[in-house]
Amino acid sequence: MKQAMSKRKRCAIVGIGNRAHSWVGGIVERHPDVSELVGLCDLNQDRCHDINAAYGTQAAVFADYDRMLAELHPDLVVVTSPEGFHREHIEKALDAGCDVATEKPLCITLDDAAAIVAAEKRSGRKLFMAFNYRHIPLCSKIRELILGGAIGRPVSMDLTWYLDYKGHGASYFRRWHRMMKLSGGLLVTKASHHFDLANWWMDDVPEVVYGQGRQNFFGPGHNPFVGERCSTCPHAKACAWYTDVCVVDRTEKLSQELGYRVKGVRNYVNDACPFGPEVDIPDTMSVQVRYRNGGLLNYSLNASVPYEGWNLAINGTKGRLESKITDNKPSPGWQERFQITGPDGRVLKGKGYAVTDWPAEYGVHVMPHAGDDYEVRLPNIAEGHGGGDWKIFEAALADRYPESDALSVFANAVSGAFSTAIGAAANASILSGEPVHLTPITTDWTN
Ligand SMILES: NC(=O)c1ccc[n+]([C@@H]2O[C@H](COP(=O)([O-])OP(=O)(O)OC[C@H]3O[C@@H](n4cnc5c(N)ncnc54)[C@H](O)[C@@H]3O)[C@@H](O)[C@H]2O)c1
Repeated sequence: MKQAMSKRKRCAIVGIGNRAHSWVGGIVERHPDVSELVGLCDLNQDRCHDINAAYGTQAAVFADYDRMLAELHPDLVVVTSPEGFHREHIEKALDAGCDVATEKPLCITLDDAAAIVAAEKRSGRKLFMAFNYRHIPLCSKIRELILGGAIGRPVSMDLTWYLDYKGHGASYFRRWHRMMKLSGGLLVTKASHHFDLANWWMDDVPEVVYGQGRQNFFGPGHNPFVGERCSTCPHAKACAWYTDVCVVDRTEKLSQELGYRVKGVRNYVNDACPFGPEVDIPDTMSVQVRYRNGGLLNYSLNASVPYEGWNLAINGTKGRLESKITDNKPSPGWQERFQITGPDGRVLKGKGYAVTDWPAEYGVHVMPHAGDDYEVRLPNIAEGHGGGDWKIFEAALADRYPESDALSVFANAVSGAFSTAIGAAANASILSGEPVHLTPITTDWTN
């Protein structure tokens, strides 16, 4: 391992929600020898105070981001705010002379992406793009197989991603993600992981994007009952979509389940009506991408599926590989809290409903043109996004990278920009009905 730091890295975090808790754990529990938490910023300052109380830290608390940068001059700013604020938070931190570690997605529009890439160059600071999926053993192995020539040059990829309709998937339509201006829709907030993987596996640069998207399941007109939030909804008894995630006497337990070591979720809207008028993101999407060297990606994302997972097939000039992941286990705090009731109020499903466990292993099936098929088995690490979080914290917080990174597993601003570029271009294509050419906007990014 390369070791770089001599003093502790002074870290500040903006957006103190679910994901910030993982980073705080990374700083104060995994890497306290080389990093320290000096600042916390959230519009809701209670959430910052809760962190100090729960982790025994004395980080300064701010509602004003500019003030935090000016007063603390942190070495590293960790961006865990909603995606619609990423550009502002990243650009300001870089221009203030700080390095940045940002959660995916980098940002939500092509303009944002170009501005961030320019800000990184201008400032001379470094942006660490936290694409943790790349570190999942199965995803790294697919990259290793491709770079090793197992299927030749990839020429087409079919990637189909499913979100479960009642738990984690539905949660995107119950929180801020349901609004395009805050999340960029699922093609940005969720698919940024998937487009990054596709770019990385294809080992190429996307050039043309065409997208289709519809609201077929969530959003206005898809449920007989509409309210503001389940917790205040007059239709709670009758609605099959009622969820009790915000019932007051459960908040403490729920908070723990969600990863908050604090009492109560604190004024957080996570039970907004998934059929309300604010829902302006599609739930059914299909995207085609043409890459510079001619490779083609067919991608689809659907949020009305009974389970969560993917189907992947990559065809190369010398063979094909296939993989399938089924994450049927509901996330604690979401699916187990969800209940489906009949018209008489009787609980039909949910809350303790039996669920399957995560499989212990996943496989890649490789079919070379010359030679026999074979299967590669990889462990399924259930914690920390397949173990990816630990590697990301080690790199971003402790500056510890492996001696050799033959797979280029650590992502930078340009990888983040290309991933957002596909999602943002697909969103634009959905509106215009036309394909979007990413060049010349992205030409600078590869120079
Ligand atoms: N890598 C992963 O696997 C992964 C997993 C979950 C979330 N994320 C990403 O992490 C980020 C945060 O997601 P989350 O689930 O923690 O969200 P969250 O809703 O739990 O937390 C967001 C926090 O940001 C605060 N906030 C909103 N606007 C702000 C502003 N202008 N300035 C300061 N604070 C503001 C909110 O009050 C809230 O506390 C998102 O970009 C999300 O996509 C990544």
